[in-house]
Amino acid sequence: MSAVRPEIATVLNKAASTHTLSKDEIVALLGTEDEETRSALFRAADETRARYLGDAVHLRAIIEFSSHCVRNCLYCGLRRDNRRLDRFRMRPGEIFEAARRARAEGYRTIVLQSGEDPHYEVDALAGLIRRLKSELDVAVTLSLGDMTRETYRLLRAAGADRYLLKHETADPALFARLRPGTMLSERLKRLVWLREAGYQVGGGNLVGLPGQSLGSLAADLLVLKRYQVHMAGIGPFIPNPDTPLAGSPPGSPALTLKVLAVTRLLLPRVHLPATTAVSVLHPEGRQLALRCGANVVMPDLTPDPYCRHYDIYPGKARLGSEGPNSFAWWEKELARLGRQVGKGRGHGWEAGR
Ligand code: 5AD
Ligand code: SF4
Repeated sequence: MSAVRPEIATVLNKAASTHTLSKDEIVALLGTEDEETRSALFRAADETRARYLGDAVHLRAIIEFSSHCVRNCLYCGLRRDNRRLDRFRMRPGEIFEAARRARAEGYRTIVLQSGEDPHYEVDALAGLIRRLKSELDVAVTLSLGDMTRETYRLLRAAGADRYLLKHETADPALFARLRPGTMLSERLKRLVWLREAGYQVGGGNLVGLPGQSLGSLAADLLVLKRYQVHMAGIGPFIPNPDTPLAGSPPGSPALTLKVLAVTRLLLPRVHLPATTAVSVLHPEGRQLALRCGANVVMPDLTPDPYCRHYDIYPGKARLGSEGPNSFAWWEKELARLGRQVGKGRGHGWEAGR
């Protein structure tokens, strides 16, 4: 068995004690291939998670309520030019009913996600949020993409607690190429708007995008650190056959776990989901992620038949929300992993509620 190289051990110790690393140090950690070093990295991340956040895992119900999107991101199945997708929109009443069922199962956070779909008026969204907050006593997380500053403010005023806006990649050239018509700087500006509006803010990135280097991934983690995000959604890229990136290889689960682990070391209190995408590439993906720093799982509670058509990447719809993905199933699974379901609404650090 090889030992952890001394220079890597030094970097790991620094990360675990100061939660600060340079770009080169992050690249060194992400580049380690030997088993011994990888285990040491995962152990350090797991210990940091336990020390700062304990053993609770927060379960969030995600409802993907519209698959319409005005954008054309090269990696995503919801992109505007994908004519092979059967698109759907749920009515606010249907969304509320799905949320009510999730609350009855035990979920205390409802995540509302969609493509960028201007069909929904701000007033309709605000009305839905007010209803969720007043009738269900849940935290509401929005993941609706780029909007105006005023819209973010109005939805926050209606009661939304959190907003997920992954920066996707911190490489400005790659961002512009993969997300035609948009710019990294505009995306990052929105993270500031959201924080100023009083949201708990989520960033995050894809791992294994074509043209992405370890240096670029290190820059992703430094963005999360610089913006002091409360949540970070990090998952592997999975090629979708109905997109221009159909022929690109998927991101590696092993690298994704390393990225999660380093994120935990850099942001010890961040809420870090074990993403669905990692379980699509590896059957135990989410369980592994929970041992590398992750502390959140977001089961898909989008009702049938809609959930089968939210095809961002292949394999996603297959998981579903019943049986081996229900709240009750996760309670048992977490106990098996020596963890337990988080109590309360599971707000981020700082929010203190
Ligand atoms: N593989 C993995 N994740 C993807 N997303 C979009 N396309 C893919 C893909 N091919 C993620 C993006 C976005 C969210 C809606 O889904 O990161 O934030
Ligand atoms: Fe739309 Fe988001 Fe997919 Fe881009 S990644 S096409 S903005 S849903």
